[in-house]
This record gives sequence, C-alpha cells and structure tokens, in this order.
Amino acid sequence: MFKAKAYSAASPTSPLASATIVRRDPTEHDVQIEILFCGICHSDLHSIRNEWSEFMPTVYPIVPGHEIVGRVSKVGSAVTKFKPGDLAAVGCLVDSDGTCPECQAGFEQFCPNLTLTFNSPDKHLGGVTAGGYSDTIVVDQRFVLRVPSNLSLAGTAPLLCAGITTYSPMRHWGVTKGKKVGVVGLGGLGHMGVKFAHALGAHVVVFSTSPNKKDDALRLGADELVVSRNAAEMQKHAESFDFILDTVSADHDINAYINLLRRDGNLTLVGAPPKPLGVSAFGLLVRRRSFSGSNIGGIAETQEMLDFCGQHKITADVEVIPVQKVNEAYERLLKSDVKYRFSIDMASLKTE
Ligand SMILES: NC(=O)c1ccc[n+]([C@@H]2O[C@H](COP(=O)([O-])OP(=O)(O)OC[C@H]3O[C@@H](n4cnc5c(N)ncnc54)[C@H](OP(=O)(O)O)[C@@H]3O)[C@@H](O)[C@H]2O)c1
Ligand SMILES: [Zn+2]
Ligand SMILES: [Zn+2]
Repeated sequence: MFKAKAYSAASPTSPLASATIVRRDPTEHDVQIEILFCGICHSDLHSIRNEWSEFMPTVYPIVPGHEIVGRVSKVGSAVTKFKPGDLAAVGCLVDSDGTCPECQAGFEQFCPNLTLTFNSPDKHLGGVTAGGYSDTIVVDQRFVLRVPSNLSLAGTAPLLCAGITTYSPMRHWGVTKGKKVGVVGLGGLGHMGVKFAHALGAHVVVFSTSPNKKDDALRLGADELVVSRNAAEMQKHAESFDFILDTVSADHDINAYINLLRRDGNLTLVGAPPKPLGVSAFGLLVRRRSFSGSNIGGIAETQEMLDFCGQHKITADVEVIPVQKVNEAYERLLKSDVKYRFSIDMASLKTE
C-alpha cells in the first residue's frame, strides 16, 4: 500500500477537504495512473450528500470522481495494454466478475458483482473504493481506457461518464440522420448529448429551463432550443420526436416530454433524480410510446465512444478549476451555472 493525496467529504453536510488515503500497490494486472484531470459529475454531488440513500447509501468519508484521465506511472508484470508514460482513462467502473452473462455480453455496468470507482466495496483493501479527486489511482487493466492523442485532456475527462452515458442510449435507440432528437437539460450530460446527436446527423432540439443558454445550444450543435417552461413553445413540437434523452437531475414533469414523442418514439432517462417520477399511462398507451432508462456503458462501448470522439474531435466544454474550488463548483452546479462541465486540474493537489 502507499499513500495518495485526495479530497474527501466526512458527512453529507461537510465540505470536501484535503485528505490522505491509501492505494494498493499494483498487482500483476494493475495499472497505476497519475491523475491529471477529473470531471465533476452531478452524481458526485448526489453521492456526497447521500441523496441516493435508498439505492446506494454513501459510506463516509467519500472520495468522489469517475471522469479520470492521467498518465500511466507503473504497470504490473502481466499488463499488456499499457506502459509507463501512456495516457489512460478510467470511468465509473473499476472491476466486475468478467464471467456473468452481462459481462460476457459487454455490459459490465449491469454485472451483479461490479465495483464502481467510488463508494463501492473494495475487494483489495476492504472498505469502499476511492474515486478520482486524487493524485493517483490503481485499476485493473481491463477497466483502463485508451485516450485519443488529438484531444485536450481536460475536455476528455468528462467523456468517461457524461460522454458514455449519452452516447450509449443514442446508439442503442438508433439516432441517425433524419431522426428528430430532443435533449432535456443543458448541463454536463446534456451538452454531450447535443454533440453526439449532431455528429450522428440528427435534427437536435434542446429543452432547457434557461433561455440564456440558446446561443450556446446552437454553437454546441443544436438546431433549436425550446424553453421548457413555455407551454406554447412545447406544444409546437407535439408528437414529433423519434427519441428524447432526459438528463435532468431534479424532480420535473416527465409527461410533458412523453407527449412530444411520435408513434413508437422513446424517451430515455439518464438523469437520476432521487424521488420517483409520475408517469401518465395514457401518454404511453396512445402512441405505443416507450419510456426507459440507461446507465453509463460497458467498457468496449466506452472505448468505441472515445475513438468516435477522436475521429470527430469531440470533447466536453470545460471550465478548468483547481481542486480547492470544488465546493464552490458544487454550489454553481446546483444553480445550473456551469459551461458545461467542471474539470479539476489535479496538479493543484500538489500544494496540499
Ligand atoms: N444514468 C447514468 O448513467 C448517469 C450518469 C451520469 C449522471 N447521471 C445523472 O444525470 C443527471 C445529470 O447529471 P449532470 O452531471 O449532467 O448534471 P448537471 O450538469 O447539473 O445538468 C443537469 C441539468 O438539468 C437541468 N435541471 C436542473 N435542475 C432542474 C429542474 N429542477 N427542472 C428542470 N431542469 C433542471 C439543468 O439544465 P437547464 O439549465 O438547461 O434546464 C441542468 O443543467 C444527474 O442526476 C446525474 O446523477 C446519470
Ligand atoms: Zn457521472
Ligand atoms: Zn459480471
């Protein structure tokens, strides 16, 4: 074991503060990574504040962070995919059994024995896993991704969660040229959804509570922005969408979007508000519409997404911050005041 620097929270109401944690020495299959950037996902905030206590209670102290890019500093003797000096990335998963039907099908995110990057039982050290708000992480090579060489690293970090979470359902539901696609909420996930839907050739409509995000939405690749609180504007799009991706982090009226789907249209939820949403049966029945969810993506698909981003020069629009500004960043995230993802420059941890 060795010591690493990190930022952790001691309770649902404590701010994140500097801490020392332990990491395992790399085993033969492990890659040790010096973390350069880590994105701030709204899931970090839900977890720190224990808002998902019913489904995934938070174990304190918690070190969040699952949008990680860095440089390989050490590899175990059986590691073939990476060597010291390589760029590498880690997302929401760091282990799974590799043998269950989900793993065999490439859906490690649905493995009953999966290990999440933070707040998940740690098979090696006991306790729970510690995430990317740290200077170092040690991960089995199966869960380490290759980073395209032509992308900015700060903007690549958010692809590891916001990127794959929006790419995967769009591929699954066949977003292509000629489809009309909606993205609800222009935050970290939403702005990546817009970039992917545009790159896949769809007509893209953003639904936002913030009318002042219109210019940004169009610059990011949207064709239109609809202010979701304006009922008349919403009504203009009734029964017209093939697919809508909902990225909203808080309680909202889901039926307003279901009613915008055409026959056989699908609304996929990736946002994870803590409270249940009320879905009207008739909204679904009348046009054979479907309502579903999606959770990040498997490892092979995450690599496919990163390679797609390399080919299409897609990264997240980031505001780079030092780790010391992380608590302030959370307050801004809650006000939807981020353009469009915070990415922590981990060099700032050296002064702690
Ligand atoms: N399924 C998965 O695998 C997965 C993966 C990552 C994250 N998530 C979840 O996805 C959600 C979004 O994450 P994120 O990091 O993209 O968060 P974010 O950057 O905070 O974006 C959320 C956006 O939702 C909109 N919004 C916020 N509060 C709202 C309200 N009360 N009513 C209507 N709209 C509201 C805002 O967009 P406008 O200003 O445009 O309205 C905001 O920018 C979180 O719940 C997160 O936990 C799920
Ligand atoms: Zn996330
Ligand atoms: Zn499995």
